[in-house]
Amino acid sequence: MKIFVTGGAGFIGSNFIRHVLGLGRNYSVVNYDKLTYAGNLANLESIGKNPKYQFVRGDICDAAAVEAAMRGCEAVVHFAAESHVDRSIYEPAPVIETNITGTFILLQVSRKLNLQRFVHISTDEVYGDLLPGTSADESSRLQPSSPYSASKAASDLLVRSYVRTFDFPGLITRSSNNYGPYQFPEKFLPLLITNALDDKPLPIYGDGKQQRNWLHVDDNCRGILAVLERGRIGEVYNIGGLDVEENLSIARRLLRLVGKPETLLSSVRDRPGHDRRYALKCDKIGRELGWTPSILLDDGLRQTIDWYKMNVEWIAGIRGGEYRSYYEKYYDNRDSSLHAITQSGVKSSGKF
Ligand code: NAD
Ligand code: TYD
Repeated sequence: MKIFVTGGAGFIGSNFIRHVLGLGRNYSVVNYDKLTYAGNLANLESIGKNPKYQFVRGDICDAAAVEAAMRGCEAVVHFAAESHVDRSIYEPAPVIETNITGTFILLQVSRKLNLQRFVHISTDEVYGDLLPGTSADESSRLQPSSPYSASKAASDLLVRSYVRTFDFPGLITRSSNNYGPYQFPEKFLPLLITNALDDKPLPIYGDGKQQRNWLHVDDNCRGILAVLERGRIGEVYNIGGLDVEENLSIARRLLRLVGKPETLLSSVRDRPGHDRRYALKCDKIGRELGWTPSILLDDGLRQTIDWYKMNVEWIAGIRGGEYRSYYEKYYDNRDSSLHAITQSGVKSSGKF
């Protein structure tokens, strides 16, 4: 099967391509990626000159370029997106354009070229902020909170409409927060890991009691491939990790693993509209496709920390680029002097 992967130079896409080609089965991949600030061909260096891999630089909003690159492919796995909630708050326009219009164009071209399967990669954030102790299943209401999650929900609904109206072979995965190698350090865990390694403060939004369901990217890639190979057309599959954990608690866990003091924890201004809890029920993918997550959080974090320790050049490459001005503009200037976080929770201290 020749797979048209969009956004394959990003975090999950590059791990997925490595996973699929590493299986040594009869898969080949066209990686179609615009190489935005988040796209990085260094993520795919280990693939080398694999004859089953081809890279095409292009924008999913450019219908003619998508059609030229997609011709001859049999399936689409659609990762390309503006994927960061904070950026979607600071600058929503590219998020709406890529995530909604881009998905629409991919659907149109895939229909025209008669693709056999189209796996749309979505997120648990479309279910919005959950009540304490509850989890979302695939039929839970879509109640997105940020421009990012609203754009993902919109694209999910476009896929759904194509299935219903045009008999289109669409499927959707909704995964929880991923972590692992090659994740861009604007996201929480790689930001914390790289800061901790450099003895820099770990910025925790608000009280740090927001809960996220952490999923190792390798577990997600196995789930996505199972959906591509065996998922039922028109269905949505949740893909979640083993652990739902508060941000502050995972930050502490991480500091323990890195061997750095908790004095690095720093409470900063909260994200507007910040969802308190994400959690997924994943019975459906377990029952239908036999998928379950397998990587324990401590093991996955240890492996991820080691990866960031070993890949200082990769980090330096990112820090030398657009990320530097983003970091200075948005992360350096956060109000970080309200309170320090101690073992017992948030405690007023005035400075760090
Ligand atoms: P990422 O930001 O690391 O990578 C996104 C990739 O898409 C980059 O390579 C970028 O260059 C490319 N891209 C962006 N706009 C494009 C355009 N207009 N045309 C072509 N390519 C474009 O993202 P990620 O974390 O790997 O996420 C991949 C997908 O998984 C996204 O759809 C995201 O919504 C979804 N998702 C991510 C997570 C997570 O925790 N990271 C969780 C659930 C769902
Ligand atoms: P993030 O990695 O941006 O993923 P998402 O918002 O899509 O879940 O953030 C994960 C959690 O970490 C979220 O609750 C926001 C929080 N967070 C911080 O506390 N500090 C930070 O610097 C960042 C980037 C995120």
